[in-house]
Amino acid sequence: MSQQRLVFCSTIADSIVAELENKPSTSIFILTDSQSKTFCLPLLQQSETLKNAHVIEVPAGDGSKDVNTLVSIWQYLSENGATRKSLMINLGGGMITDLGGFAASTFKRGMNYVNVPTTLLAMVDAAVGGKTGINFNGLKNEVGVINPAKSVLIDTNFLRTLDMQNLLSGYAEMIKHALISSESELKNIFELDFAQLDYEKLNQLVQSSIYIKEAIVTEDPQEEGVRKALNLGHTIGHAFESYSYQMNKPALHGYAVAWGLMCELFLSYKKLGFPKETLIKVARFVKENYGHFYISCDDYDALYELMLHDKKNTIANCINFSLLSNVGVLSLNQHIDKETIFESLDFFQEMMGM
Ligand code: GLY
Repeated sequence: MSQQRLVFCSTIADSIVAELENKPSTSIFILTDSQSKTFCLPLLQQSETLKNAHVIEVPAGDGSKDVNTLVSIWQYLSENGATRKSLMINLGGGMITDLGGFAASTFKRGMNYVNVPTTLLAMVDAAVGGKTGINFNGLKNEVGVINPAKSVLIDTNFLRTLDMQNLLSGYAEMIKHALISSESELKNIFELDFAQLDYEKLNQLVQSSIYIKEAIVTEDPQEEGVRKALNLGHTIGHAFESYSYQMNKPALHGYAVAWGLMCELFLSYKKLGFPKETLIKVARFVKENYGHFYISCDDYDALYELMLHDKKNTIANCINFSLLSNVGVLSLNQHIDKETIFESLDFFQEMMGM
């Protein structure tokens, strides 16, 4: 039984009208960021039903995913007559679906919400599966709840105006989904040519990728077992991401995940016999499309320290990985020693030709 309805739209305005007919609500609140307000909101507002909806706008960027912005959303809802029968529509990227999902899940102990993701990362990952929350105390997604949207409306036409870096960022999560799924999914992933983007093909790949995630979160909504597979690439990836911020060279989430996938597939190869040719193929694809992240051996200790603080670890001083013994064959809760992790960083540096 699926937790949320997935709707693949040809026209977002028509799809949203159909969705709202099934969800009677006393009032509608659209949460969006300044960019999505300019480029995407007018498409939603083509529908008469949404012309009079309240619009809550927050600044674009991850800085808005904080407790102050959350309070300002609660304040707006409170001052504008929202009830637990109101509906929140989250229109934007992952920051908006995480923040709006959390605001809706907590206001009056929970009102319904619908996600309308506008970036690739949000379509294939953030908007699906009910993880909501804010950053707190310098830590990402530190406070939140798992509470799925009533529906997720996916209109890949939004991707036609998304810049290449953000497309690639989302695509890293699609590589991960293919790796934990099957050889045929992975083959399709390698076939997309970013130099001459075929949006029809991308649309098909996006749908397929979302179904992979949906199947996993339906089986394990609370991340007690198989959902941990979605962490592939993220233990080392999050360390790269945090380190890039510390170094004042911020990397997009998906780029850090792509680099993390290279290292964690190396760990999979080393510890579980993951096929070397697939490792090399993924590594080459990542290098060609995501470029370098410059590190040297002097950075290893700092990266290791960041991995030790990963919130997925449940045993002190023990880093928890989700690895693969083959494409589609999961090996969860793998604890890898420091020396092997450093070897994976050596591999990363060698492949990047540093
Ligand atoms: N982003 C990973 C998950 O939803 O579990």
